[in-house]
Amino acid sequence: MSMIDVLDLPQLYTKPSAQSLLDTLALLTYTPRSWDANHTDLNKEGSHHGSSPDPPVSVNPEGVARYLTSIVSNSLQWITDDDAREEIWNQASLRLSERSGRTAMGSMSRKFRIPTADSSFELSIHEPALTGDDLGLKTWAASYLLAKRLRTFNLVQPGNDKPNVLELGSGTGLVGLAMAALGANVVLTDLPSIAPNLARNAQDNSEIVNHNGGSTRTGVLDWNNPASCQLVCDNDVDEALTRKFPFILAADSLYSSEHPRMLVGAVQQWLSEDIEAKVIVEFPYREAYLPEIKDFRERMSQAGLFILDEGEEKGYDDWGGSAAGEEENEDALVTCWWACWGRQA
Ligand SMILES: C[S@@+](CC[C@H](N)C(=O)[O-])C[C@H]1O[C@@H](n2cnc3c(N)ncnc32)[C@H](O)[C@@H]1O
Repeated sequence: MSMIDVLDLPQLYTKPSAQSLLDTLALLTYTPRSWDANHTDLNKEGSHHGSSPDPPVSVNPEGVARYLTSIVSNSLQWITDDDAREEIWNQASLRLSERSGRTAMGSMSRKFRIPTADSSFELSIHEPALTGDDLGLKTWAASYLLAKRLRTFNLVQPGNDKPNVLELGSGTGLVGLAMAALGANVVLTDLPSIAPNLARNAQDNSEIVNHNGGSTRTGVLDWNNPASCQLVCDNDVDEALTRKFPFILAADSLYSSEHPRMLVGAVQQWLSEDIEAKVIVEFPYREAYLPEIKDFRERMSQAGLFILDEGEEKGYDDWGGSAAGEEENEDALVTCWWACWGRQA
């Protein structure tokens, strides 16, 4: 792919045609870092272009924001078609907001490819526009890494009963849905503000989950009150979860000093006494929250759990920083720690 400079784009003083500007704005569509270059499909709602193939050329990001601002603030008088003018301003505004980072972007659905022992499947994950502190409306690096790693734990064994799995802090549900599409019965949980989108994603992926022999339920489980878990039901009547689980999953769940205590409390509440019971987690090593990981490890040990296997891997929190698209966002590259805990060493 070749790279051109912003000065090579149609300049407004030359009064370019509406079509030429629209083509240029399409070229400037900011495609965020792909989760899986071979398979990721991005489909931004509200975009006129839907999922678009990679453009044949890329534009040096330097000066692009200024170029877009000049279009938005120009009267474009030489373009006589009112609709075309509106469309140009609209597209230029969209390109600007894409460059303002994930928080400025609208809702979107994207696909994640998850490997199985001998093949792979694809999950479609909807992420609403981010509002406030609702981190669970975005899919984080640790969850994609863990989703891809799940098969290696062999929780689903041919000939055995389907395992019952609980996910804590599911967010958009990628980990729990991957587990279900590997053939497990999974309960995905999060806070009340996150649960509706979680239920939507479970519904959106029900075909692949059912086809692969798994199942999902979603519900509200607040680690502040871990004894209570209300499942979403078709008939709108909440159903309380009572049984414990031999397997618990959690990804990227430690970003406050209270979280280690709360998360381990939820694990103690819901992990069955079965000697084979396991807790599988993956957390990013974020500088500010390293003490939380240490605290989590200590509390898990105090709860009588041992690390059976662990490791590190790298992934991208794309959409991470502000001004995404203006430069490579190395801040988005995170090293994650995964661990599988059991009741006996
Ligand atoms: C950084 S997000 C990670 C989401 C998802 N696991 C992922 O990795 O994409 C942290 C998640 O923990 C959830 N969470 C935070 N505090 C919680 C609590 N007290 N009870 C339940 N979930 C909580 C958030 O709502 C959010 O979905």
